[in-house]
Amino acid sequence: MKAIIGGTGVYEAGHNNIIKKVNTKYGEVELDIINIDGEDIVFVARHGKEHSIPPHLINYRANIMALKELGVTHIYSTAAVGSCNENYAPGDIVVIRDFIDFTKSRPMTFYEGGEEGVKHVDMSDPYCKEMRDKFYSAAKNFNLDIKGDAVYICTEGPRFETASEIKMYKYIGGDVVGMTNVPEVVLANELDINYSCIGIITNWCTGFKGNISFHDIESFVGKNKENITKAFIE
Ligand code: HPA
Repeated sequence: MKAIIGGTGVYEAGHNNIIKKVNTKYGEVELDIINIDGEDIVFVARHGKEHSIPPHLINYRANIMALKELGVTHIYSTAAVGSCNENYAPGDIVVIRDFIDFTKSRPMTFYEGGEEGVKHVDMSDPYCKEMRDKFYSAAKNFNLDIKGDAVYICTEGPRFETASEIKMYKYIGGDVVGMTNVPEVVLANELDINYSCIGIITNWCTGFKGNISFHDIESFVGKNKENITKAFIE
């Protein structure tokens, strides 16, 4: 079974949604079962449907565990990101290929020792290669112009970055900056769920050009979200 995790600006997908609540040991998760062309797909709004949960307070473990319990094998996610790569401009779409983690205070693992044991999950390919390749071919059928692969810097948020931080992130190899892919991608890998993420560039990072506005973020995502969903499901 496939799941979509919708990031900022993507709060629903499909029609005739059935709302379902799943109880996990980490908390309750409300999600939708949507039907697209006869296929049942799980949809989770990462920040809640009203965008009421900030990045550092998302219950990532409950979300991923709920998907595992429903039998999800593939997660397709979207993330609104700022760009610190001149080749990726606001409105562009990129495929996330790897991450660098600058989060500080989040529960990071299902394996806390004791009953759960200890696990050091392999991070050589955190974003499923097959799904990444598939995006490029599916994009052609849906008018999605994917600009390329990107390394995602995950910050703790909820504040945006300083100009000096962005300089450093660029220097160490980051292309885009967001606040949610870690620990989401890590937890999916811990449970052997194939994870992929499309980054929607909503702004230049701090210090690049102009100021960041949340309105721009939502409108850029809005323009792309339907075609992205189609490319996920193909
Ligand atoms: N920084 C961090 N997270 C973001 C940004 C940004 O510039 N844009 C959208 N999410």
